Amino acid sequence: MADPADAGFRIRRAAEGDLEAMNRIYNWEVEHGVATWELDPWPLERRVEWFRARDHDEPVLVVESAGAVIGFGYLTKYRGRRGYRFTRENTVFIEPGYQRRGLGRALLAALIAEARTLGLHALVAWIDAENAGSIELHRALGYELIGVERETGHKFEQWRSSVEMQLLF
Ligand SMILES: CC(C)(COP(=O)(O)OP(=O)(O)OC[C@H]1O[C@@H](n2cnc3c(N)ncnc32)[C@H](O)[C@@H]1OP(=O)(O)O)[C@@H](O)C(=O)NCCC(=O)NCCS
Repeated sequence: MADPADAGFRIRRAAEGDLEAMNRIYNWEVEHGVATWELDPWPLERRVEWFRARDHDEPVLVVESAGAVIGFGYLTKYRGRRGYRFTRENTVFIEPGYQRRGLGRALLAALIAEARTLGLHALVAWIDAENAGSIELHRALGYELIGVERETGHKFEQWRSSVEMQLLF
C-alpha cells in the first residue's frame, strides 16, 4: 500500500473552509449508500453548526489532495454520560472515486493516533452489516467485531442491521 503522503495526499485537521466538500461527500452517501442511515441530505448550515459544536477532544480530520478535500473522519463522544468519557465513536468517509487507494486506512490510523494522544481507552464503530469494505478496514486496523444489532434501521425499502466493532487501548 502506498503511503498517502508519498502519493500526494495529506491528512490534517478540518477547518470551516472544508465543510462544503465534507458535506458533499456525506450527502452522496445519504442518497446512494448505507454508511449513514440518515435519509435526508444535510444543508450546509447544519454541517457548520455540527462543526462549531464539537469539543476539542472530538477531532475532525480531512484527507486533502491537490487542494481538494476527498475524505474526512472524526471522533465523537460516545453517548452522553460522563462515565463514557474514555470512549469515542469513529466515522470515516472517502469520496467514491478515491476509494481502495489506502486513504481510508490512513485516515482511520490517524484517528486512532488522535485517540491515543487524548488518552482514550476505547474506540467503537457502528457499521451497516453489509458494508463489507468498512468492516474489513476496521478489522485490518485491529478492531474486533463485538456483535450485531438486527434490523434497527430501514433504508432503501429494506430493514438494515449494524455491527459494532471495537478497538481497546
Ligand atoms: C469504507 C471506506 C472508508 C474504506 O476506505 P478506502 O480508502 O476505500 O479503503 P482502503 O483503500 O484504505 O482499504 C484499507 C483496507 O480496508 C479493506 N477494504 C476497504 N474497502 C474494501 C472493500 N470494498 N471490500 C473489502 N475490503 C475492503 C481492505 O482490507 C483494505 O486493505 P487492502 O486494500 O490492502 O486489501 C470507504 O470505502 C468509504 O468511505 N466508503 C463509504 C463510506 C463508508 O462506508 N464509511 C464507513 C462508515 S462506518
